[in-house]
Amino acid sequence: MGAQQGDKIEQLHERRRRAREGGGPKKIESQHKKGKLTARERIDILLDPNTFVELDPFVEHRCNEFGMEKNRLLGDGVVTGYGEVNGRKVAVFSQDFTVIGGSLGEMHAKKICSIMDLAAKTGIPTIGIDDSGGARIQEGLDALSGYGQIFYRNSVYSGVIPQISVVMGPCAGGAVYSPALTDFTFMVEGSGLMFITGPRVIKAVTGEEVSPEQLGGGRVHSQISGNIDFLANDDEQCLKMVRGLLSYLPSNNLDQAPLIDMGDSPDRWDEKLSTIIPENPRRPYDMKDVIIGIMDRGGMMESKAEFAKNIITAFARLNGRAVGIIANQPQFLAGALDVNCSDKASRFIRFCDSFNIPLVNLVDVPGYLPGVEQEYAGIIRHGAKMLYSYSEATVPKITVITRKAYGGSYLAMCSKDLGADLVYAWPTAELAVMGPEGAVDIVSRKELEGLEGEEKMKRRTELIDEYREKFANPYYGSSRLHIDDVIDPRETRIRLIRGFDLLRGKRVSRIKKKHGNMPL
Ligand code: HXC
Repeated sequence: MGAQQGDKIEQLHERRRRAREGGGPKKIESQHKKGKLTARERIDILLDPNTFVELDPFVEHRCNEFGMEKNRLLGDGVVTGYGEVNGRKVAVFSQDFTVIGGSLGEMHAKKICSIMDLAAKTGIPTIGIDDSGGARIQEGLDALSGYGQIFYRNSVYSGVIPQISVVMGPCAGGAVYSPALTDFTFMVEGSGLMFITGPRVIKAVTGEEVSPEQLGGGRVHSQISGNIDFLANDDEQCLKMVRGLLSYLPSNNLDQAPLIDMGDSPDRWDEKLSTIIPENPRRPYDMKDVIIGIMDRGGMMESKAEFAKNIITAFARLNGRAVGIIANQPQFLAGALDVNCSDKASRFIRFCDSFNIPLVNLVDVPGYLPGVEQEYAGIIRHGAKMLYSYSEATVPKITVITRKAYGGSYLAMCSKDLGADLVYAWPTAELAVMGPEGAVDIVSRKELEGLEGEEKMKRRTELIDEYREKFANPYYGSSRLHIDDVIDPRETRIRLIRGFDLLRGKRVSRIKKKHGNMPL
């Protein structure tokens, strides 16, 4: 090697060393003191060892305002590149809070857009780690424009590659719309923060006093706003959860999720499922026990677990293949459909449909949640999303009715009419236009009004029993092809695995259009 070339190579390595330092040891120490890892440490945990290939490490900002010419650091506050998770390629960007607070300027945004474009071209998921003070104030409109370019890509690549956001620090102002546009958002409790307007502005405008954590911390977004999907205790746990989620997802919309053998027999009967439904139809049970009994052992990942708990949305595997589960949860609001759970389920259905993940619908639903509050909150508009997203979905769809399936909510949980390929019912299923009590009070109102006291009660009970026997069972529906078979609960797993085997070659053709107009 000539001396000159050797010097140049040494200069390259020196530049690389500087780029890797980020904001320097003091800023890194301060980052660690806040319980946060650095941008590079996070990438190391997220990716398989020694697979990260960094791109654009020598990018610098071009701003000369407010003394910024003296504050130029290599990389411009974001580390970008690609690597592998469980041997599959992913693209990643990780904001470096140690460099000008991870703030997003023109060049920082260009780096993010560049890796997003590469991910879309090559058909690999993007994982964005957010830890930033937001738009770099010194760069003004150029910084704003950078966000716009990211939002544009988040939108046009939606449904092409899975996009995941991981909020591990501040994410404030319009910056929050990138996580909102991506498919799944993770957050770390205690360090992740998301809000459109911060506590100070809120105090000035409305007079409300609230701490940053109370306004936009992890608990708020996982339980109240429903803005995030997964909440973790710390950075390391969070990044491991991201790896877990990726194991259920294909790399792009033309791909299938990986086949992962969990060592669970496809012919396994689950004995516990035969005793899970309580004698009293008003008593709740935990639908998660049903899911665990049916799915491959050892793997289930619930999204939005703490939000709209009346519906469960989760990934699991059946004979090694990923499925998306939408299940009513009788333990909350008796499993009734409300505004929030309709939003939660619809978005999940659409994600699965975009990425070829078959749907399992587990039904125990007494109806749409009644009440002025729900009507005013737009249950008509929100509830319609479920009808739309199930009808739109062309992935294999199998519905299993475990107990109640009444009225509009029976349709909304993917009845045959909305395109379920197969519908099974347990012997405990009750399908009808409405619940027995409500039906009798309407249909037999005149007869009951003519009676009083104990006689009235007795007659009402008789009529309810008659109705239940006649309509609220699975056989009436199966005599009219609304149900394909009444099955022993213990054989649910086998029926689903065989059904999805059959449906793997499913073909659907639809009228060509630009896109539909989903109710929002
Ligand atoms: C430029 C910023 C910055 C920003 C932080 N810094 N945010 N520089 N633009 N937006 C710099 C700080 O000046 C500081 O530089 C370093 O980053 C670390 O910040 P600290 O304040 O020391 O850290 P900390 O105490 O942890 O507080 C973090 C913070 C706070 C809560 C994020 O920095 C903050 O409130 N920043 C402003 C947040 C904000 O209002 N952003 C909105 C911008 S408008 P030195 O040199 O001292 O180390 C926006 C609109 C986007 O984002 C719209 C998109 C559509």
